[in-house]
Amino acid sequence: MEKFVINGGKPLKGTVKISGAKNAAVAILPAVLLSDEPCTIENLPQISDVQTLLESLSTLGADVKLINKDTVRIDPRGVRSCLVTKEMAEGMRASSYFLGALLGRCKNAVVAPPGGCDFGVRPIDLHIKGFETLGADVSIENGMVEAHAEELFGGSVYLDMVSVGATINIMLAAVKAKGLTVIENAAREPHIVDLANFLNSMGANIMGAGTSNIRIRGVEHLKGTTYSIIPDQIEAGTYMVAAVATKGDVLIENVIPKHLESIIAKLVEVGASVTEYDESIRVKMTTRPKCCNIKTMPHPGFPTDMQPQFGVLLSVADGTSVINEGVWDNRYRYLDQLSSMRAQVRVDGKTAIINGVEELSPAAVSAVDLRAGAALIIAGLMTKGETSVGQIQYIDRGYEFIAEKFSALGADIKRVSVPDEVQNIKLA
Ligand code: UD1
Repeated sequence: MEKFVINGGKPLKGTVKISGAKNAAVAILPAVLLSDEPCTIENLPQISDVQTLLESLSTLGADVKLINKDTVRIDPRGVRSCLVTKEMAEGMRASSYFLGALLGRCKNAVVAPPGGCDFGVRPIDLHIKGFETLGADVSIENGMVEAHAEELFGGSVYLDMVSVGATINIMLAAVKAKGLTVIENAAREPHIVDLANFLNSMGANIMGAGTSNIRIRGVEHLKGTTYSIIPDQIEAGTYMVAAVATKGDVLIENVIPKHLESIIAKLVEVGASVTEYDESIRVKMTTRPKCCNIKTMPHPGFPTDMQPQFGVLLSVADGTSVINEGVWDNRYRYLDQLSSMRAQVRVDGKTAIINGVEELSPAAVSAVDLRAGAALIIAGLMTKGETSVGQIQYIDRGYEFIAEKFSALGADIKRVSVPDEVQNIKLA
């Protein structure tokens, strides 16, 4: 077990380079299974979710070769198995993408139910509805999701809720189905566009990604490609909030500013100075943040994956802020941790009311999920004294070299080993 120990209260200053997008990478890697030839994927983030997926691809029979630290060549021609076991799927929501990818490749998939962060109920009913519309039989047998089809045929799927996962999974299953598939009320996140661009670069025929109506005309074969993943919108947003929270001045490089509009708008509202360049953004703050209200929504609304980082920032804002979580049922567990740092918060269902205090007090807290963990690091960075953040395996799932990147900005943050029993006593 490891934890981060942070000696906070220092403004972040300097330049940080953003890595490839986790949520694009975890969709594109299973999508390689649809190719008839090897694919080279560049700008892969070095995070544990990517590592887990590469191991799963290898277990399925793909030949996986690291070309350099962020480039991998995957040859799926040796894949014979369509079984993704509980051990392979554990801890990762994106393992569900093997359902669509294997169904598309071999019309047969047996995949353990996906894991991932605990935000309350995380169903896959819309994914299943999509597979069934394409002609697959889907059942749960012995705790495994099984999907089979003699042949997949295009069809029209209306998503009752905007779902990133269902949109991606249906695209994966439809890309080699016979005829036209239409996904209505599709999610519009940047990583959906990235997946579509990746598949199109292999010869797929996907139109409308980035709008709520995606049209996929099935093709028989997909060829190999070399593809570079987009920068991570949420990692960029996390460093932007950290710069503001520590009253720092940070240039964030390798970003697509268009993907960050809703985040920039809120940072400006709390009083930050944000300057946009072609592929970078400078974020500067000199005062205490003002309070603001936030409602999370599917893209292009304010992203739920930035809600915890803003919750931390608003805990020291001047005034009362109200957050409304519009995507997940239960995404406020980090606020219990923040309360132990003397934040003044109240949660009522999907609403959190945050009364800003002048400053937080350092404490030993625990990363309850991936983004919560990043948010609690920000809490440590902006608070004078020593804060420790435990359970950092969640953070390692999605942030490449986070301690190193913050250290390069002048933060005092160290990764420290903790004997298992000590960490358990602290958590109890
Ligand atoms: C993805 C992201 C996650 C982000 C979320 C929302 C990845 C790997 N994860 O998760 O970081 O927080 O989008 O932006 O990209 N729903 C159903 N039935 C379904 C599927 C979803 O009711 O079959 C509901 C969910 O309970 C939730 C909402 O739809 O309330 C959105 O979920 P979805 O967009 O599917 O999230 P994920 O793809 O799991």
